[in-house]
Amino acid sequence: MSDETITNESDTFEIGDTTVHRLGFGAMRITGEDIIGAPDDEDTAREVVRHAVDCGVDLIDTADSYGPAVSERLIGEAIGDPDDVLVATKAGLLRNDDGDWIAHGDPDYIRNQVLTSLDRLQADTIDLYQFHRPDDDTPFEDSVATFAELKDEGFVDEVGVSNVSAEQLDQAREQVEVATVQNRYNLNDRGSREVLEICEDEDIGFIPWAPIDGDDLDEHGDLLDEIADEHDATRRQVALAWLLERADVMLPIPGTSDPDHLESNVAATQLSLSDDEVQRLTEAAD
Ligand SMILES: NC(=O)c1ccc[n+]([C@@H]2O[C@H](COP(=O)([O-])OP(=O)(O)OC[C@H]3O[C@@H](n4cnc5c(N)ncnc54)[C@H](OP(=O)(O)O)[C@@H]3O)[C@@H](O)[C@H]2O)c1
Repeated sequence: MSDETITNESDTFEIGDTTVHRLGFGAMRITGEDIIGAPDDEDTAREVVRHAVDCGVDLIDTADSYGPAVSERLIGEAIGDPDDVLVATKAGLLRNDDGDWIAHGDPDYIRNQVLTSLDRLQADTIDLYQFHRPDDDTPFEDSVATFAELKDEGFVDEVGVSNVSAEQLDQAREQVEVATVQNRYNLNDRGSREVLEICEDEDIGFIPWAPIDGDDLDEHGDLLDEIADEHDATRRQVALAWLLERADVMLPIPGTSDPDHLESNVAATQLSLSDDEVQRLTEAAD
C-alpha cells in the first residue's frame, strides 16, 4: 500500500436517504477460491475492507452466497455497521461444494437469510437488500413481494434487484420502490443497455457487476492502452473512469482481495477522460 492516502473522488448518488460516492467496492473476492470458504489470509481480507473505507469508499457490495457467509462475516468483523457506509447485500442464490450458483427465490428462504445476514454484518437493518437472481422455480413476483415485506417490516432500508430484464424490472417496480439494479455491464459487455436506460430515466442506481470484466479487458485492450498511456494510468482505471462517465446513475463496484489493487481502482476516480476519449470507448462496442 502507498504511504499517501488515495481518495475516492467520484461524485455522489442518493440510494434512498443515503448519499454514497459512485465508485464502490465489490467484496465477492475476499473469500476463498471459487468464492467458496474462507480466504487463506483473513487479516488481509479485513484490511482490504477497512482500507476501502479509509479511501472514502462508502458503498460496499456483498451477498450471503459469497463464501457462502464468509464475505458478510469479514465485513462485519472489519467495520461493523458504521452509519456512513452503505453495505449492500443480496439473497437468492444457494452454493454447493462444486461452486455452483443455484437460484433460490423461495420467500421462506429469503426471510431466513435476512436474519443470518443481519447477524454476520452486525447490523440492525440491511442498508440495501438485493434479490440476487430471478428463480425459474419461484414466481418472480412472490420473491419480490418478500423483499417488499421485509422493507415494510423494517428489516431492510432499501430494495434492489439483480440480473433482471427490462420486463422484470418493470414488474418489480409495480411491487416495491426499486433503489438499485445490479446487472453485468462493462466496456466489453453492454447486454444490459436497455435496463441501464430505464435506470437513467427513472433515477435508479445501476450497479454494473464485473466492471473490469473480471480483469479480462483484452477485447478493447489496444484502445484502452492508448488512452491509459495518455494519462499515465492503467487500462483498468480507464475502463472504470469510462463507466463513471457513461451515466450519472452508474455505481461501479470493482472487486479485489488486494489492498494495492483497491488503491489503484479508487485512483481511477481521479482520472479525467476527454469527451473524445469517452466517445471512442463508447463507440468501441456499442
Ligand atoms: N449480482 C451478481 O450476480 C454479481 C456477480 C458477480 C459479481 N458481483 C459483484 O460485483 C463485484 C465486481 O465483480 P467481479 O469481482 O466479479 O469482477 P471485476 O471487479 O470486474 O474484476 C475482479 C477481478 O479483477 C482483479 N482486479 C481487480 N482490481 C485489480 C487491479 N487494480 N489490478 C489487478 N487486478 C485487479 C481481481 O483480482 P484481485 O483480487 O487479485 O485484485 C479479480 O480477479 C463483485 O465483487 C461482487 O460484489 C455481482
